[in-house]
Amino acid sequence: MKPIAKKFRTVLLAATFAAGLSMPALAKDAAVEVAIDTATTGPVIDKHIFGQFAEHLGTGIYGGVWVGKDSPIPNVRGIRTDVVTALKALKVPNVRWPGGCFADEYHWRDGIGPADKRRVQINTNWGGVPESNAFGTHEFMDFAEQIGSEAYISVNIGSGTAAEASAWIEYMTAEKDTTLAKERAANGHPAPWKVPILGLGNENWGCGGAMSADHYVEEMKRFANFTRNFNPAQREGAARMKRIAVGWDSDKLDYTEEVMKAWSTHVYSWDIEGVSLHKYTVGGGWPPVRPATGFGNDEYALMIADTLTMDTLLKKQKAIMDKYDPAKKLLIAVDEWGAWLAPTPGSNPGFLQQQNSMRDGVIAALNLNIFARHADRVKIANIAQMINVLQAMILTDGSKMVLTPTYHVFKMYVPFQDAQFAPVKFAAGEYTVGDRKLPRVDAMAAKDKGGQVWVSLVNVDPDAGTSVMIPGFRSASGEVLTAPKVDSVNTFAAPSVVAPKAISGKAAGGGVTITLPPRSVTVVKVSK
Ligand code: AHR
Repeated sequence: MKPIAKKFRTVLLAATFAAGLSMPALAKDAAVEVAIDTATTGPVIDKHIFGQFAEHLGTGIYGGVWVGKDSPIPNVRGIRTDVVTALKALKVPNVRWPGGCFADEYHWRDGIGPADKRRVQINTNWGGVPESNAFGTHEFMDFAEQIGSEAYISVNIGSGTAAEASAWIEYMTAEKDTTLAKERAANGHPAPWKVPILGLGNENWGCGGAMSADHYVEEMKRFANFTRNFNPAQREGAARMKRIAVGWDSDKLDYTEEVMKAWSTHVYSWDIEGVSLHKYTVGGGWPPVRPATGFGNDEYALMIADTLTMDTLLKKQKAIMDKYDPAKKLLIAVDEWGAWLAPTPGSNPGFLQQQNSMRDGVIAALNLNIFARHADRVKIANIAQMINVLQAMILTDGSKMVLTPTYHVFKMYVPFQDAQFAPVKFAAGEYTVGDRKLPRVDAMAAKDKGGQVWVSLVNVDPDAGTSVMIPGFRSASGEVLTAPKVDSVNTFAAPSVVAPKAISGKAAGGGVTITLPPRSVTVVKVSK
């Protein structure tokens, strides 16, 4: 990926537009009115926008998920128990695996069969370290099952063949007595697995083979045709496997354009269900150099401004897709997003290890709110990445484990999974850091299947608290995540510096008022 610098003005306009109001001159101490329109039926916020990404990269898999069956670290069939317990609480809807760039060098046969016979290779993308293939298809599916999640498998278009990818999907999903189904059974899993989401390559403009957009489209069509899912439970309707073609990366539009153009005249033999978009928050420049800790308000504001450009990118991708697909048959999968910062000092730079601060929590909430506002098209998203890599949920070191601020935000957002988006109107206001101006507040609301209304309120301002008034409701209760500083982190020694606390609102003047601390993310259920 290659990020683009965006000017503050774009960010401000994006936030204003999202709120549906013109930017007011809001006094800093005035309560922000957040009006929830529960009468309008919005799109469902697909649970799959809360997906995760687990690549063979650094200690994301080895150490983070897989410790091996003989490890002194408590595990079930080699998969660490503490991590599984923590992830279960997030109700992770899907896990994208095995990459990333790794996917386009992955050959699935290297990762099945007796562990001591598996090919040891070099992980050329990530640190040049040996890849044992100890964690392969069976181990990944076991992990997904243990955390109650589903598989998002990325097939190798860059260095693989359509025949190889086709055989892999058959191996995973064939129920009948085929040679591959028998081989799967002999390796310990007689029943077919489900593969609900299939990635057709990854970043094939770059690490996935440096293909031009039209060359990728020709390859992608063959893979879309021949990767057949044989699981009888996935043949019809909503359960059918969704194939995701590679779309654009930050400022590159050609992939989305070419893929959509091809799809608009596609013949019976191939189809896709979605197009991806990758966008990392890096704060400008490449490779990423922004610090994960020890930063102040300027640095905080720079990253917030960058992350808010996700909205602009989605609008651009949607405009292209609307041109070829006005009926919105195809979805957007933002299958890589999150903060990409300078690596932790002393770590292998190829392992993309970074700390996770209160700022990451705010970044996570702002992006999830943007995805919810685009729920008509954005139906899959995968934060990069799950454990020990980039904007992770969990950090581990040997037997130690700590939950990050991003983890807490994902847990607080569980009620939004498959809830119905309810438009909100609010005046975001603004705060200023140097010559940078940003929206002070962000809000998003939805109604769950039981009719309960939930609201997310982000106080982006790093210094000032604010109060929010929600007209028409009398009570609000839930959790707030804040921290002493924007760069506060959780460590193995101090794991609860950034942890959610209970919060409730007070009924007054025709609504409920909630006081938001500075630099905070709040999720409350509101009742009349
Ligand atoms: O998430 C790390 C890498 O970022 C992925 O492997 C690649 O797809 C992207 O460039």
